[in-house]
Amino acid sequence: MSTFAGRSAIVTGAGRGIGAAVARMLAARGAQVGLVDLDTANLENVRASIEDSGGTALAATADLTVEDQVRDAIDRLAGGLGGLDALASFAGVVGYAAIPDTVAADWNRIMDTNARGAFLCAKHAIPHLRVRGGGSIVLTSSIMAFASEKAAGVYSASKAAVVALTNALALDHAEEDIRVNALVPGVIRTELLTDAALALAEPGQDPAELVESWGARQPIGRSIDPDEVAEVALFLLSGAASAVTGSCYRVDGGLLSRLG
Ligand SMILES: NC(=O)c1ccc[n+]([C@@H]2O[C@H](COP(=O)([O-])OP(=O)(O)OC[C@H]3O[C@@H](n4cnc5c(N)ncnc54)[C@H](O)[C@@H]3O)[C@@H](O)[C@H]2O)c1
Repeated sequence: MSTFAGRSAIVTGAGRGIGAAVARMLAARGAQVGLVDLDTANLENVRASIEDSGGTALAATADLTVEDQVRDAIDRLAGGLGGLDALASFAGVVGYAAIPDTVAADWNRIMDTNARGAFLCAKHAIPHLRVRGGGSIVLTSSIMAFASEKAAGVYSASKAAVVALTNALALDHAEEDIRVNALVPGVIRTELLTDAALALAEPGQDPAELVESWGARQPIGRSIDPDEVAEVALFLLSGAASAVTGSCYRVDGGLLSRLG
């Protein structure tokens, strides 16, 4: 029997990248999945591909910075799935500027999506997990919470907030058997990184080569496939991690272990 047979999970940021990989893998291993993203077309593609592969998926378009939309999406999906066992939060945005050059609107956009969005999803998922007598939440931080790059102050701060939120949630809900852990991805091959390379490439520099040069800095010598992050997410969401809560799981090819 699949690890997730009979279980249901909501995945945010499921329209593409790591969230889409996690949603597909959960469905392939027997979970019924609820997909949330801002991008309706991408969401529909992922939902259809899961259904075409014999899985079960429902989709809800929502802007996770807007509390009413978060509540509506989670309540509707949990209702449609017949309950909720897990939340996997991957929706996120990046932005690059030194702090003196950062306008407050960019601070708000990045913090609202990455930190406040994770808070709102946890807030509105936990009542559903309680009904099941427990569950598992995975939030997404970043290596940038622990060691920054130039011109990434707001993104780093938003991902550090996710680490603190993970600790606090794990403590508050341990006695209810709701486990809360954070993923700490390194250089993962997604469109988020391609977009970042397009923004940061020097004139004449190939953005794809720039992404690979970032991956090559990881001690494993390459960038990471979204499915490699999904495997770790599924471990944390599964009963195999029954004693794991409040942890940060690095999927960074050893990057944070490197001195210089
Ligand atoms: N790719 C990497 O190298 C990397 C590294 C560290 C951390 N992360 C984190 O992993 C997570 C997933 O990253 P990814 O690379 O798959 O990114 P991605 O850009 O490919 O996917 C992110 C998804 O989130 C959705 N989203 C953004 N804002 C939203 C909002 N307000 N409401 C609903 N949906 C919204 C987007 O539409 C998109 O589908 C993010 O939190 C990111 O910060 C990624």
